[in-house]
Amino acid sequence: MSFDDSIPTTASPEVEFISLSHLNPSTELEPIPSRGIDLPYFRRYVAALEEGGYDYTLLPYGSGTADPFVVAGAVGQLTERIKPIVALRPNTTPPTVGAQKLATLDQLTEGRAVVHLISGGNDAEQARQGDYLPKNRRYARTSEYIDVLRRSWTEPAPFSHDGEFYKFDDFGPGFAPYESPIPISIGGQSDEAFAVGGEKADIFSFWGEPLADLRSEIDRVHDLARAAGRTTLPRIWVTFRPIIARTDALAWEKAHEYVQRIASGARPGGTPQNAGSQRALAFAERAELYDRALWTKTAAVTNAAGASTALVGSPETVAAAILDYVDQGASLVSIRGYDTLADAVDYGRYILPLVREEIAHRTATGRRSGFQGRHPGNYAPEYARLATAGRS
Ligand SMILES: Cc1cc2nc3c(=O)[nH]c(=O)nc-3n(C[C@H](O)[C@H](O)[C@H](O)COP(=O)(O)O)c2cc1C
Repeated sequence: MSFDDSIPTTASPEVEFISLSHLNPSTELEPIPSRGIDLPYFRRYVAALEEGGYDYTLLPYGSGTADPFVVAGAVGQLTERIKPIVALRPNTTPPTVGAQKLATLDQLTEGRAVVHLISGGNDAEQARQGDYLPKNRRYARTSEYIDVLRRSWTEPAPFSHDGEFYKFDDFGPGFAPYESPIPISIGGQSDEAFAVGGEKADIFSFWGEPLADLRSEIDRVHDLARAAGRTTLPRIWVTFRPIIARTDALAWEKAHEYVQRIASGARPGGTPQNAGSQRALAFAERAELYDRALWTKTAAVTNAAGASTALVGSPETVAAAILDYVDQGASLVSIRGYDTLADAVDYGRYILPLVREEIAHRTATGRRSGFQGRHPGNYAPEYARLATAGRS
């Protein structure tokens, strides 16, 4: 079958890579007790991400985790190029203070700060820090939070604010970002997430979904952005848990071994409250395999807690699968493995260069190189056989 080398009109002309920074060697495969931060490990991890060619690192937030602002400060001083993405829940920090912290990080890193606003997908988790707003109100608060962040960074003179969630007088001029506005990302897939993200976010983030489902979600957030009169549409961020090995067959053996191990460590839980996880479980219910290499079994056995859908195969198959999402418009790709540090190094060695090579080819020729044609994954019958064969 001939390969159509035309570049889809929806394709992103660029791709940047994100990976989460782990603070200690404990993994879902091998949970080990830890006080939290293992400094030599953390230093090695961050260095591996920078050397591996990643563009960003995500510092996630949970009521029981390390503080991502403090960790981002450390990342900024341990690296030269990688951009720390701070996950921030509006209930934890007033917006003028959030703006101050982010601008400080931005100046300390000469313009590398990014913020990922978390409205919170679980009421009980929010209540742990005294937040009793229902989710739709949490998103309304996030929307007001964004306005105050941007004014705090740009207003030349003192200003007052009397909003539904925040009130203050004569604030400013606030501490300014290094040079340009700090990018604001929104994660979430409830209607409220789309409404706020479409209207105000620079970046809209997703967990890995089947291509057709993601296509309609991207159209949805972009349509909302256009309806809000925006000319610059939110960048699209997608997140995966790749499981790779030298060949597709070896990757499937590994995948089935991994799914046993993470299943045994997973906390049982009822139906997740957040829409993103509910969608992942619905996809898993519908099918295990989608498109070139998307596997939902990892979501099914972990109750889709956080980023939980996998891309399985050789580096070539997984790189081709990532390019399929770039063809849908994703310009930010977040990948983190189950064997955290080893995987981060392997992806840097074997996946990032392949994807970048294809993007460079497209930029130079205006055509696709055929790479995606040469590595069909699940578009060829053999792959599905491997996916089932490895099952014990
Ligand atoms: C890429 C990505 C990263 C996220 N990181 C975090 C995080 O660090 N902490 C957190 O509480 N929620 C995190 N979330 C969850 C959401 O931000 C969101 O608040 C939650 O899922 C509610 O969403 P819903 O609108 O889908 O119901 C993340 C979501 C995505 C897509």
